[in-house]
Amino acid sequence: MEKCILITGGAGFIGSHVVRQFVNKYQNYVIVNADALTYAGNLENLMDIEHSPNYRFEHVNINDAVAIQALFAKYQFDGVIHLAAESHVDRSITDPNAFIQTNVMGTANLLNAAKELWKGKEEGKRFYHVSTDEVYGSLSETGFFLETTPYDPQSPYSASKAASDHLVRAYGNTYHLPFVITNCSNNYGPNQFPEKLIPLFIHNIKNNKQLPVYGDGKYTRDWLFVEDHAVAIDLVFHSGKNGETYNIGGFNEWQNIELIKLLCQKMDGKLGREAGTCAQLITYIKDRPGHDRRYAIDATKINKELGWYPSVTFEEGLAKTIDWYLANEEWLNNVTSGDYQKYYAKQYN
Ligand code: NAD
Ligand code: DAU
Repeated sequence: MEKCILITGGAGFIGSHVVRQFVNKYQNYVIVNADALTYAGNLENLMDIEHSPNYRFEHVNINDAVAIQALFAKYQFDGVIHLAAESHVDRSITDPNAFIQTNVMGTANLLNAAKELWKGKEEGKRFYHVSTDEVYGSLSETGFFLETTPYDPQSPYSASKAASDHLVRAYGNTYHLPFVITNCSNNYGPNQFPEKLIPLFIHNIKNNKQLPVYGDGKYTRDWLFVEDHAVAIDLVFHSGKNGETYNIGGFNEWQNIELIKLLCQKMDGKLGREAGTCAQLITYIKDRPGHDRRYAIDATKINKELGWYPSVTFEEGLAKTIDWYLANEEWLNNVTSGDYQKYYAKQYN
């Protein structure tokens, strides 16, 4: 095998798409997926590739420094693509410590292990840190986040991701650890845990439950189909410049309420309901504390330098996403039983 690559958080939403793409495309690499299988991790996401000869799964928590050192000793990784994180803003508001632990300390454990393993032989190695546009804070009605936009995180989630980005750069500067960072906008698509806006609302519509819109619903996000994010990660991992940051976005801004109305309209069609039926479930509720008003990515750098541009239109991506959730009822039932019910009651009642 030519290379051994560690992908952390590969059982999660974005991670599972990245793992699948790497396992199928790079049969000359060994792909090791290390995941703690928290509520957001689900090996069902990878059933189609779990028996591939170049795929390995390791049930490891990145907060366990000893286990991480042992993992690096076992596989002698050539590269790391780090996605494992606590990722939901609302959960970071109720339990910030879990975010500080995993996103900051867990990242530090991986950086320490990579630094030790690659000391003096950094050539050809790469630590790829997958981050978020939320580190830049909130925009008003105009402007875009550039790679040079100063950090201004506003939630415990984004602050913990910002801290991890700073750590990665500090290890690059201090120990010459070869790294790249990407900051991406909101992803959507198959396998996303139904705590995030789009899958939560698809699930609720299906079950005729209220659609809880925070505040005035006029918050804006820039949406990217998850498989396009995975393609960008592949490109940056292989061709991005050492020590650089790339913003990744969908060139696709939507106010929440407009997106929700579009989703309702599509769901009416898919479920054979009379036009306007699903939209009757829209319910405005108390706002998210510290809610960022608008995110918008300027992805010119990755487009110009690496030729990346989203390949899936929002219309296509949303249709694929809805179809996937409607066809995968068992997946949805499995992830929404048990603890999900408690989470939902605490968050929305
Ligand atoms: P997710 O919550 O769906 O998945 C996270 C995965 O990490 C899960 O498989 C979980 O089991 C694993 N994990 C969590 N804590 C762990 C720990 N301590 N040790 C090992 N594994 C652990 O998240 P996602 O939406 O797929 O996001 C993946 C990454 O991409 C995150 O770093 C996130 O900050 C970033 N990101 C997400 C988005 C988005 O819209 N979802 C956008 C930009 C960046
Ligand atoms: O921008 C990238 C980020 O996008 C990622 O780093 C995060 O991991 C990811 O969770 C996502 O964060 P958001 O907070 O933007 O996503 P979420 O799906 O939670 O919310 C999207 C918008 O919808 C936001 O303005 C809040 C609103 N919302 C969300 C939920 C869950 C509602 O109005 N009601 C809801 O029930």
